[in-house]
Amino acid sequence: MNKLKILMVASEAYPFAKTGGLADVVSSLSKSLTEQGNDIKIILPRYYNIDKNKLESYNDPICINMDYGEEWVKIYYTNLPDSQTPIYFIDHEELYGRDGFYGPTPEEEWPDNSRRFSVLCKAVFKFCKYMKWIPDIMHCHDWQSSLVPSLLYNSDLDPDFYSTASVLTIHNLGYQGWFPFGDINFSGLDKYTNCHNDGIFNFLRIGISKADLLTTVSPTYSREILTEEYGHNLHHILNRRKSDLFGILNGCDYDTWNPEKDKSIAPLNFSSSNLENKTKIKKNLQKMLGLEVNSSIPLFTVITRLVDQKGIGALCGPSHGSLYRICSELKIQLVILGTGESWCENELKHLDYQLENFVFINTFNNDLSHQLEAGSDFFLMPSKYEPCGLNQIYSLKYGTLPIVRNTGGLADTVESYDNITGNGTGFVFNDLTPGAIYDTVAWATWVWFNKPEDIVNMQQRAMGKDFSWDLSAKKYSEIYQWALDRKSNRYPRSW
Ligand code: GLC
Repeated sequence: MNKLKILMVASEAYPFAKTGGLADVVSSLSKSLTEQGNDIKIILPRYYNIDKNKLESYNDPICINMDYGEEWVKIYYTNLPDSQTPIYFIDHEELYGRDGFYGPTPEEEWPDNSRRFSVLCKAVFKFCKYMKWIPDIMHCHDWQSSLVPSLLYNSDLDPDFYSTASVLTIHNLGYQGWFPFGDINFSGLDKYTNCHNDGIFNFLRIGISKADLLTTVSPTYSREILTEEYGHNLHHILNRRKSDLFGILNGCDYDTWNPEKDKSIAPLNFSSSNLENKTKIKKNLQKMLGLEVNSSIPLFTVITRLVDQKGIGALCGPSHGSLYRICSELKIQLVILGTGESWCENELKHLDYQLENFVFINTFNNDLSHQLEAGSDFFLMPSKYEPCGLNQIYSLKYGTLPIVRNTGGLADTVESYDNITGNGTGFVFNDLTPGAIYDTVAWATWVWFNKPEDIVNMQQRAMGKDFSWDLSAKKYSEIYQWALDRKSNRYPRSW
């Protein structure tokens, strides 16, 4: 396989900027591709929280010509921690120097997001010229970088980029970057070829129409998004590009998510040959969270953004959610860690007050999320849709059996328990209803108390599953090669 120059264009990369799984994937995929011998650079905005003093910088500012005038940016850089992969930051105080990547709160957007991310998309070209490094592939992630494929088609494109191909990965079709059509003026894109007659400037839609190849983060999700139910109004255009769309399952960064070396649970690390420390972590958590300290009571955990996509309506909606019934009727303990929509946070605070076997931790805390993954018995993910999902993959590695809805990457990674053979690595259900969630939690609880040997066998099987990046990164390498072939057919290199 040829070694390639690849620029990852994104709005998040762990540990510098993270609101969700996108950040983990951008960094871990990049690391893995670097280890396979490719020349990778990541580029993202320098948000306020990313401390300039800990970064190197280039002295000369770069000018980006927007249709409305000039934007001047500076480039900072460093390596991803423990790796050889460089990451570059576009510094523009007015646009990115704010607390909040996309808005002041998770529910609000910055009013100038179309300008902010148009500048990012245009800046990558100037950045490459400045670095005298022209990538074979620009790999864009989600809507924030989705104008890049279209800019690669611009009639005034610098000839240096004629052979550069684009790949767009859709991590979540629910977020598309919708703006009034007039905002297209920020982008320098041609209004006619990027127009869809509905008066909306839709970043992701533009990327989907123009990228040389498209990927999404699991095979099942790549099929689901072709349907009206999961297509978020883009299923027609996705169907037109069906033969260019591939589902590649995200890998897991087992340097970070591995009970044998996880720093957040040290010194109580464990492996599948001895789960005593897992039980100790569980008891420590029970104590710390004010729950009854008793290892025979099954501990269920949810770690999530509290948004509609995650199935929170069926789990904890005020009048019909399943949570109250689960906690009041079943002999279990349940912990939810997360932040999100305020109606849901309020409801969960109220339930935390009412129920003694339920704890709501209304924050995001990385160490605690590792400890909960490690010390819990079950991990609940009742998502409405889930492009890939990473927490269920982490859970498998820690012997914490996932309870998931049969959708997207959840369906591709968890095998449901079979009452007769005892096979499986978790519990899978179909309908997003409070009744189905309750029944499945009750089912898992029944197996816990009545067939403990099946639970132990499932834990062993789950911990033995391998979702490392190696295989997925190889699949991306193939996609890059196809994208290049595509591009060279369209624009012969002598063009
Ligand atoms: C988004 C999706 C999630 C996926 C992640 C990384 O956050 O909602 O399912 O795992 O992106 O690709």
